[in-house]
Amino acid sequence: MSEKIDTLLKESRVYQPTAQTKAAAYIQDYESAYKKSIADPEGFWGDVAKELEWFSPWTKVLEWNYPWAKWFVGATCNIAYNCLDRHVKTWRKNKVAIIWVGENDQERVITYGELYRQVNRCANALKKLGLTKGDRVTIYLPKVPEQIVAMLACARIGVIHSVVYSGFSAPALANRIQDAEAKLVITADVGFDRGKVLNLKSVVDQAVANSPTVERVVVLRRQTPGITLSAPKEIDWHDWLKDEKAVCEAEHLDAEHPLYILYTSGTTGKPKGVVHVHGGYMVGTYITTKYVFDLKEEDVYFCVADPGWVTGHSYIVYGPLLNGATILTAEGKPDYPNPGRWWDLIERYGVSIFYTTPTAIRLLMRYGEDWPKKYDLSTLRILGSVGEPINPEAWEWFHRATGENKPIMDTWWQTETGSILITPLPTVPLKPGSATRPFLGIEADVVDSAGNSLPANTGGFAVIKKPWPSMMRTIYKDPERYKTYWNTIPNCYIAGDICHKDEDGYMWFMGRADDVIKVAGNRLGTAEVESALVSHHAVAEAAVIGKPHKLVGESIKAFIILKQGEVDSPALIQSIKDQVLKELGKIAVPSEIDIVPSLPKTRSGKIMRRVLKAKELGQDLGDISTIED
Ligand code: WTA
Repeated sequence: MSEKIDTLLKESRVYQPTAQTKAAAYIQDYESAYKKSIADPEGFWGDVAKELEWFSPWTKVLEWNYPWAKWFVGATCNIAYNCLDRHVKTWRKNKVAIIWVGENDQERVITYGELYRQVNRCANALKKLGLTKGDRVTIYLPKVPEQIVAMLACARIGVIHSVVYSGFSAPALANRIQDAEAKLVITADVGFDRGKVLNLKSVVDQAVANSPTVERVVVLRRQTPGITLSAPKEIDWHDWLKDEKAVCEAEHLDAEHPLYILYTSGTTGKPKGVVHVHGGYMVGTYITTKYVFDLKEEDVYFCVADPGWVTGHSYIVYGPLLNGATILTAEGKPDYPNPGRWWDLIERYGVSIFYTTPTAIRLLMRYGEDWPKKYDLSTLRILGSVGEPINPEAWEWFHRATGENKPIMDTWWQTETGSILITPLPTVPLKPGSATRPFLGIEADVVDSAGNSLPANTGGFAVIKKPWPSMMRTIYKDPERYKTYWNTIPNCYIAGDICHKDEDGYMWFMGRADDVIKVAGNRLGTAEVESALVSHHAVAEAAVIGKPHKLVGESIKAFIILKQGEVDSPALIQSIKDQVLKELGKIAVPSEIDIVPSLPKTRSGKIMRRVLKAKELGQDLGDISTIED
């Protein structure tokens, strides 16, 4: 990649916090709070940790053995205990924890007390199946409360959960089950997508057939009559829990005990299992949820993510529950049954904090401002955006459509970082399109490939210069891959994003520097899609690029060389798309496929996707001296 990256985006508007926002905010003066936190990060994080409950204290806040970190050394804790028991011991016992709305408008309201009992029953049921501390469980569920129950139940007894997004197809699921060597899979008969029924159980059947470590499959049957299960391997969720006691003591775990593995895409075809641990992750998600969204006791917090992705892990499940918040979570899409869906839910439940994505905002923007205008959105107080850069136009629309006086927290972070790292706080002046400044305790910079700080308005690599509590601890079974995050640029964690800072130190993220693409905020590796493409019988070679797209941020374009004797036709293109659907799932299917006679390669045979992309976008091809053909 060229050393100097032009910074194209120029945005000059600044929005100051309203008096109302200022009056409510925990952090009144970001600048001084930040300076103080950075002068003594361990002191800062240690103080945050003291707001939570620990079974035994730490001897040291941080042990930093570059690039390996341990936080809250020697302490014991349990994140599920902090999400549940800590509240159930107080008046919050009968506070609503989760309001769940199904795609068909079915409603379930679960208090902290009830969630505690369900989690305990599930934890006891896990134990009865012989699962113990350190075992792995794969959770392949649609967005239903049982997904949250299962996650917390695993955490409660030190079992490591691996949640897989229910849009992934059988081979992708099998891959993740096998890498984690899961003993149990928890799934449902079906999920729903814009009225369409998705048969999840049959996906699991195919995946489990190739996964010898799986001993049992628990199935949540949502439809009546229920599908037939084959005992003893397959167990009904409700039968599984019904005789279990509602009390199960939380395991006292070392702060560094793994909480979960979450698979995410990188630059190779094999997804990486990002590992997070109980102690540090608990501290990071707790405090970012509290300060970024200025979360108060009486808020109703609505995050539209799916717990199948990291945003759901950190900002539907762990962060909000650690804070004792009331969470609204809804199955389904923003435009189903109509584009008023989310605005309607905000009005119906009096939502005060609304955390969404740029792609969803752009989708709703297409339907116009009349939709939000139909609803009473006056309960909203704080807004959030995550997953991809938000373009100033979408930012401005979101701001206007929701009443023009609610601050938008453009939160930058990653599966690997565990919690939000670059973000405004509600009192920070906002510039549409900028994720603004580092969170308290986080030292961030924009550097060149040698690690030198770059001057204002010069594009470079976004890096974090010090460890932080919720950072991933390793890549499951692949410590070498973990090390590359810290070894590529000396003394820095490299995120893989291109960014620049402006003269006020505001950070402007401009997309990825590597072969990761973001389609509707979903993270995909070009290599993963390419390997799905070449698994088609007619495909000899494939190269994939991300192409700027007005709605979904980036779309997938594939260039394909056919095997000899194969002929280009619409039917063939369709069958190639179907192959990707079968291998990976709907989110990975290229929107365009071009059949080409050759691909640009280096002399060592590496496909130069950069050249394909520049050509596609009509840009300067850059240095092509290493090209073979
Ligand atoms: C991108 C999602 C710009 C970025 C939480 C990052 C963003 C990747 C933002 C991580 C944002 C996320 N502005 N880009 N506010 N938030 N990204 O692991 O490229 O699915 O590296 O985590 O999303 O994606 P992941």
